[in-house]
Amino acid sequence: MTKIAPSILAADFNKLGNEIAAVERAGADWIHVDVMDGHFVPNITIGPPVVEAIRKITDLPLDVHLMITNPERYIGEFADAGSDHILVHQETCPHLHAVLQDIRRAEKRPGVVLNPATPLASIEPVLPEIDVLLIMSVNPGFGGQKLIPSTLDKVREAAALRSRLGLEFSIEVDGGVKPANSAEVAEAGADVLVVGTGIFKTDDYAATIATLKGDRV
Ligand code: DX5
Ligand code: ZN
Repeated sequence: MTKIAPSILAADFNKLGNEIAAVERAGADWIHVDVMDGHFVPNITIGPPVVEAIRKITDLPLDVHLMITNPERYIGEFADAGSDHILVHQETCPHLHAVLQDIRRAEKRPGVVLNPATPLASIEPVLPEIDVLLIMSVNPGFGGQKLIPSTLDKVREAAALRSRLGLEFSIEVDGGVKPANSAEVAEAGADVLVVGTGIFKTDDYAATIATLKGDRV
């Protein structure tokens, strides 16, 4: 069954607790938290104190997407704040294997993120180390962008490689996923769909999440 991870970046921050409770009631599987530093990506969003606050109000897995340079410096803080999955970009980690091991040592689930321009082959050696592979279907930095269709080829390639290697990491897709294209993204091989504006800018979260899960429920 396809899992749905609402990205709180598109939520109303004025009532963040209510927004998270609402998507949880509506059938969300994970909560996706976009951390941006104004260096790796142009935008600045939120940090560990917000993760800590969210941790107190939901038992859903917190899927923390670090769009920051030097993410290895912040693993401890995000782990202590209550993250469940800590996802780092390949493009920010010259010592990627070591960072993934740090996350595992902190007893969190490690994940790697690939920008649209970054090939899957660049992380093949670390695939046995990860629990989540996050494939960006937009260039990171902002919600509300349009999905780049060619990124779905990478999703297909990742699904094929995973089965060839006999591994079990989740394949997650992030950016521009909407009810109108979710079936295509899931069919390409995504197990988890990150959806920001496609959920929070709609009126009925439960109906939207049910549509995103589609007939594949
Ligand atoms: C983009 C973020 C996404 C984004 C998704 O940099 O990583 O998680 O919030 O938002 P939508 O679904 O609106 O594209
Ligand atoms: Zn994200």
